[in-house]
Amino acid sequence: MKQETRKIKIFDSTLRDGEQSPGCSMNLRDKLLVLRHLEALGVDVIEAGFAASSPGDFEAVQALARAAQKATVASLARCRKADIDRAWEAVKDAKHPRIHVFIATSPLHMECKLRMTPDEVDAAAGECVRYARSLCDDIEFSLEDCSRSERPFIYRVVKTAIDAGATTVNLPDTVGFAMPGEYEALFRDVLANVPGASSVALSCHCHNDLGLAVANSLAAVRGGATQVECCINGIGERAGNASLEEIVMALKTRHAYFGADTSIDTTKIYAASKCVTTVTGSKLQANKAIVGENAFAHEAGIHQHGVLANPLTYEIMTPESIGLPKNKMVLGKHSGKHAFSQRLADLGFHLDEARIETLFGKFKDLADRKKTVSDAAIEALVRNARERDVPERLALDRFSAVASDAITPMGAVRVKLDGVLVEKTGTGDGPINACYAAIREIAGLPGARLEVYNLTAVDGGMDAQCEATVKVANAGRVYRGTGVSTDIVEASIRAYIQALYSALADEGAAPVAEFDHPQRGDTGVH
Ligand code: KIV
Ligand code: ZN
Repeated sequence: MKQETRKIKIFDSTLRDGEQSPGCSMNLRDKLLVLRHLEALGVDVIEAGFAASSPGDFEAVQALARAAQKATVASLARCRKADIDRAWEAVKDAKHPRIHVFIATSPLHMECKLRMTPDEVDAAAGECVRYARSLCDDIEFSLEDCSRSERPFIYRVVKTAIDAGATTVNLPDTVGFAMPGEYEALFRDVLANVPGASSVALSCHCHNDLGLAVANSLAAVRGGATQVECCINGIGERAGNASLEEIVMALKTRHAYFGADTSIDTTKIYAASKCVTTVTGSKLQANKAIVGENAFAHEAGIHQHGVLANPLTYEIMTPESIGLPKNKMVLGKHSGKHAFSQRLADLGFHLDEARIETLFGKFKDLADRKKTVSDAAIEALVRNARERDVPERLALDRFSAVASDAITPMGAVRVKLDGVLVEKTGTGDGPINACYAAIREIAGLPGARLEVYNLTAVDGGMDAQCEATVKVANAGRVYRGTGVSTDIVEASIRAYIQALYSALADEGAAPVAEFDHPQRGDTGVH
């Protein structure tokens, strides 16, 4: 007899909670790319951003809401009329719009952050949900810091939100404090003590401060949660959010234990993960569950022996189940465009013909210099090319650099700035710094500050390509750039130019607004 299963909705917050974390910011094109992957995965809800936080966020949420074909698109909003109006304006063109309103309910947050009494918080929750519901039929309400809130007050606010028209109620472990047993009990208790709780979707939202975000989310499912909030690769504030791929694969692999299904096509996980890694530039640890480089690698002889005899000895999931391509063809100088574009798709890059054509040219150049071209090298090519299909105001023409421990290192860089060749020289404590000084002068951005510089070998061997990644702060914003070359100075220069190019494109734009929390007297609907 077929076992009864519950449907668990997957609410993805990669583009909101994930994107909000330092180093994971994405531009609109990145976000649209991620959206395609989320839709291919089949997530039920995409939290596209926090529309009221800045004009840029508003535009992104609106564009994503208009682009989504199947998923519900949500915007976050504080318990304020202006935020809710902004959220609605941004998502109202979606096929399935949702407004996600939140207010904190823990004593600490109410006293120290909101400076509101519990009565005021409860009243604001009711007022805001009612107002949001007058605009949109799908309203999620979150009790921020719920896991550190007092039970009677949780029951009271959940009931208020349901009575005011919330269709989903989220009980977040905002600071990653809960233990799985406690978090499971929270859901059981809310279901047992709040009239009407079983008539709405109950959602969990876990942060990973103690490394328990996935365990807590799964415990919530056992406790009765019907929606799980998560991010691809577990990106998110501080230690991150619960990772989508780990939750989905746990529910699938231990189906008999959970008796729960999701709508996720797990074979799209690998590509989605690759895409998020690429657009955020935030690399995964090799032993990351499900999508880490080593997640399906068997090095120890005894393991290899077992896996060869029967994969189930050491593999509880197959690599194919997450879309990890098996028996991949080696790509090299004899590979054609078809094989190359298939590999791009396997790696999560669904690009238009023109972009594939450009990349194929670069791939051929590389293949001429190397016997085989690894996936890592292809990903680096895409990363490097992805911001370059707009007319460049700043493009490298030539450079020369001197590294020395006898004289001051020097760099001369000639760049095309708005079509005109400009050459400058600079000095620094090394050849790369010297070139960077020259480029800053050419771009006319003397205040641009290098915040992060990373250099990695993309693949092995004497002919290895290297990839430089930089983050440059200018006028309150941070810009990312990547450069790939077999020459480390050239890769570094290209990365810096790409970051300064974005800074130039943005000159005059307002700095990103801080995530300011409501203050007493400024939280109700007004
Ligand atoms: O962590 C949290 O509590 C949140 C809410 C805004 C849902 O992200
Ligand atoms: Zn969160």
